[in-house]
Amino acid sequence: MNHLKTTLKQRRQKLAQTFPDPVLLWSGCAPSRNFPANTFPFRASSHFLYFAGLNLEDAVIELDNGKLTLFLNNPSAESILWGGEKPNRDDIAETIGADRAYPLSELTTYHSEAATIALSNPMIVQQQKEVLKRDIPQPTQATGEDQKLIEAIINLRLCHDESAIAQIRQAAAVSIQAHQAGMKATQPGKTEADVRAAMESVMIAHNQTCAYGSIVTCHGEVLHNEDYSHTLQAGDLILADVGAESLMGWASDITRTFPVSGQFSATQREIYDLVLSAHDACIEAVAPGVEYKDIHWQAAKIIAEGLVEIGILRGTVSDLLEKDAHALFFPHGVGHLLGLDVHDMEDLGDRAGYAPGRQRSQRFGLGNLRLDRALQPGMTVTIEPGFYQVPAILNQTKTREQYQDMIDWERLAQFADVRGIRIEDDVLVTSEGAEVLTAKLPSQRDRVEALTHA
Ligand code: GLY
Ligand code: MN
Ligand code: MN
Repeated sequence: MNHLKTTLKQRRQKLAQTFPDPVLLWSGCAPSRNFPANTFPFRASSHFLYFAGLNLEDAVIELDNGKLTLFLNNPSAESILWGGEKPNRDDIAETIGADRAYPLSELTTYHSEAATIALSNPMIVQQQKEVLKRDIPQPTQATGEDQKLIEAIINLRLCHDESAIAQIRQAAAVSIQAHQAGMKATQPGKTEADVRAAMESVMIAHNQTCAYGSIVTCHGEVLHNEDYSHTLQAGDLILADVGAESLMGWASDITRTFPVSGQFSATQREIYDLVLSAHDACIEAVAPGVEYKDIHWQAAKIIAEGLVEIGILRGTVSDLLEKDAHALFFPHGVGHLLGLDVHDMEDLGDRAGYAPGRQRSQRFGLGNLRLDRALQPGMTVTIEPGFYQVPAILNQTKTREQYQDMIDWERLAQFADVRGIRIEDDVLVTSEGAEVLTAKLPSQRDRVEALTHA
């Protein structure tokens, strides 16, 4: 039996141990851009992909006590005319080790009692309702058997098997090359778009895609900036958060921040080294049994201590942390789960990221933390501390008043050339500790400088 079939069989057998009842999972379909034949790229639902392995459009699988049934239409004459010959249903069933395969029309007569997970595409939700003859709420509202299925799938997908880890490694390897290409392409006078093109061309050349919209910006203070129009100036930093997705849909997620001139300024150096020390200490802390939230607090503490030392924050570190002063400059969490989705399983809201019984805090310094679980071997997480000067935070009258005595605004003004720095790596929790899957991409300041337009 080939590797894919074995992996998929093991996954559905594991699911059957906690959820033996019938399950129907839809792959989805590509939404069209304005007219039907011009679609956005298709990407199957991650829950489908986990058990079916292939990016099959308009497909449904049934999982029933370890057995796999595929529902898929054979390619139509029209689709062969425009898209060429494709494997037929029986070929695909053979590739993924399905026990049975039927056309989609069989679905309505075949099963009406199965658990499922709603997709976000309303057209597919309509199909789900018609087949299952009941309301199918979005996953965050799921109840009954659907909720039990979600819990069983979370427990499976939280810790990756060897095949998944191999896929994440493949994606990470391509992302590393993409970042090296981006650093090399960086020159004053080029644009953010030029650097993005250099990075994404590496993915395209490997027949991979982006796991998320690339962030390649000299305005790193905009956390998920997707504008690429600026021309790079010698004193700028570029923040590049770019990650490839492997052929089977597994994500990687890397951020590096590098100087357009090839050398950090004295102020950029100070903050870069501070973010790097938080990054390194947090990676060092990753191990089974460790609470991810504690790692977040470790990053917050290091950043607060460093900012006090630099003279940007004033006060005792414990008081500053208690008042969330660090979050003025580090407003997001230290990272998240990584898997088939870059923020893995966030279609399920916080059900995957937060252990049962835990809830997201309303606190300014914790509200953006996406993961609050004890780490287990096989989990893959990102570690991505940062420092940002976000005008929407720092220029608010309320913030200015509340933190007036805790910030030395004059000192902060000296760091005007540090808009945003993030350093992000992908870390696999192992039984002994951790492995940084993206370690081959340097993060030390001098090595990053050496790679920039080298
Ligand atoms: N690439 C998005 C993130 O780092 O969360
Ligand atoms: Mn990330
Ligand atoms: Mn990222």
